[in-house]
Amino acid sequence: MEQISFLPTFASWQVAARRALQNEIRPDQIAWEELGEDQPPLHLFEEAEPETAAKPASQFRVPKRFLALAKLISLHRDASRWPLLYRLLWRLTHGETHLLEITVDPDIAQAHDFEKAIRRDIHKMRAFVRFREIEHAGEKWFVAWFEPAHHIVEQNASFFADRFASMRWSILTPDRSVHWDRKTLTFTAGVPRSEAPAADQMEELWRTYYANIFNPARVKVHAMQAEMPKKYWKNLPEATLIPSLLHEAPQRIETMMKKSAAKIAQADGDEWYPAPTPKTSSLTTLRGAARGCTACPLYRNATQTVFGEGPKHAKMMFLGEQPGDQEDLSGKPFIGPAGQLLDRALKDAGIDRNSVYVTNTVKHFKWEPRGKRRIHQKPSSRDIAACRPWFEAELQVVRPAILVCLGSTAAQALFGSSFRVTKERGKLLESELAPRVVTTVHPSALLRQPDEEARVREYAHFVQDLGVALRAAER
Ligand code: URA
Repeated sequence: MEQISFLPTFASWQVAARRALQNEIRPDQIAWEELGEDQPPLHLFEEAEPETAAKPASQFRVPKRFLALAKLISLHRDASRWPLLYRLLWRLTHGETHLLEITVDPDIAQAHDFEKAIRRDIHKMRAFVRFREIEHAGEKWFVAWFEPAHHIVEQNASFFADRFASMRWSILTPDRSVHWDRKTLTFTAGVPRSEAPAADQMEELWRTYYANIFNPARVKVHAMQAEMPKKYWKNLPEATLIPSLLHEAPQRIETMMKKSAAKIAQADGDEWYPAPTPKTSSLTTLRGAARGCTACPLYRNATQTVFGEGPKHAKMMFLGEQPGDQEDLSGKPFIGPAGQLLDRALKDAGIDRNSVYVTNTVKHFKWEPRGKRRIHQKPSSRDIAACRPWFEAELQVVRPAILVCLGSTAAQALFGSSFRVTKERGKLLESELAPRVVTTVHPSALLRQPDEEARVREYAHFVQDLGVALRAAER
C-alpha cells in the first residue's frame, strides 16, 4: 500500500494523482492522507519517485468535463472524495473513456451525489448569508457568519464580490474567511464562531426588512423549512420572526387582499435578494413558486413571472435574456418576434423546439413606458443576481447535455461580465454551472440587422452555432 500525503486542495491532489498515475499505482493500492496546513509533507509521494520513471503527463488525457467535475467534487467534506476522484481518473485513463456518460455506474453516481451536495451548498450560502454592519478603521464594514457544509467559500467568493461590489465586507466561516475591499478578494483562515459580530444595527434593519417583504399568502411551513433548514436559522436574524409571522399570517392575508396591489408594491422598499427557490426536482413546483417571486422590484411592473418551458429531461436548454412584451402577457418564453425567429432557426438547424427547454436569465419583463408602448430595458446585474437561483434550479432539474446562451446577458450570467459573445460564439465551452455550453447571439440581434444581406448572413451564422450545439448534445 502506498501512502500519499497531500494538502487537501484540488491542485495538490492533482499533482499527487498525476504522479501516481505515471507510476501505474492502482486505486486500491493507495491510502490518501490529507495533510493539515501545519504538517510538513514528509511523505509526499511526488518527492519519492525520480521524474525519469514516469510516463509523460500528456499521455493522461481526460475529458475537460472531468476536470470541472473533479474540481467541484474536491470541495466536498467527505474524505472519500480523493480515492473516488482517483478511481475515476484511473478508469478514464485505462480504457473507460466514456465512463462519465454511464450514470448507473456506482462511482459516477457517487460523484454526482457529491456534485449535487456541493451545488446545493453553494446555493444555500448565496441565499442565507446575512451581513451585519460594523465600524472598522472608521469605515463601514459588513460582516457575515456562515457555516457551509463543504469547502465552498473560495468557489462562491466572486458571486458575493459581484453582488455586493460597492460594499466592504467579510464572510467568516469556520474553515476559511473571505474579504472584499471593493477591489480585491482576499482569503484568510477560518474563525471560531465567537468572533462573528453580535447583534447590531444591521441586524435590526434586516429584521424590519424581512418583516416587510414577508408575504403571508405564500407561507408553506414545510416548504419554508425545507428551503431554510433549521441548521441555518441560528444565523438568520429573520428566523426569530418566523413564528410570530406565521401566527399573524391569516390576518395579514386579509389585510393584504384589501389593499390594492399597487399600494402593496409602493409599501415595499426597493430591495433585491436572491430568489428563495424551493428544494425540489419538480419543474411544476418551481414554476409555481416562481409565480410569487418578489426577489427584485421587477415583479411590480410585470404582468407575471415567465418561467422556462419544455420537457424535464430535454437534452438542450436555451437561455435568453428576459421575457419581452408578448411573453409577459402570455406567460410563455420566446413567443414574440425573437421567439418566432428562434423557432425558424431551430428548425433549420434540425432541432425540434418541442424537444428543448427554453428559459430566460431574468424571469420578469423589465420595461419603461414610452407613450402607449412598453419599451424593453436591459436587466441590471442586481436583477440578474436576484433571479439567478431560478435558472440554477431549472438547470439542476433538467440537467441538459448542452446549454445554449442566447446573447450577452445569458452568456455573461454564466461566464462573467468580461465574456464576449462575438469572440466566443459557436465554441463548445465549459462552465461551473453547466458542463457544456455554446454561446451565440440573441435572435433579436438578427432582427436589428441593417439590410437584407446582413440579415441573411447573420441568420446563417446563427443556425450554424445552433448546429454546433446540436452535435454536442447528440454526442
Ligand atoms: N427575448 C428573450 O430573451 N426572451 C424571451 O422570452 C423573449 C425575447
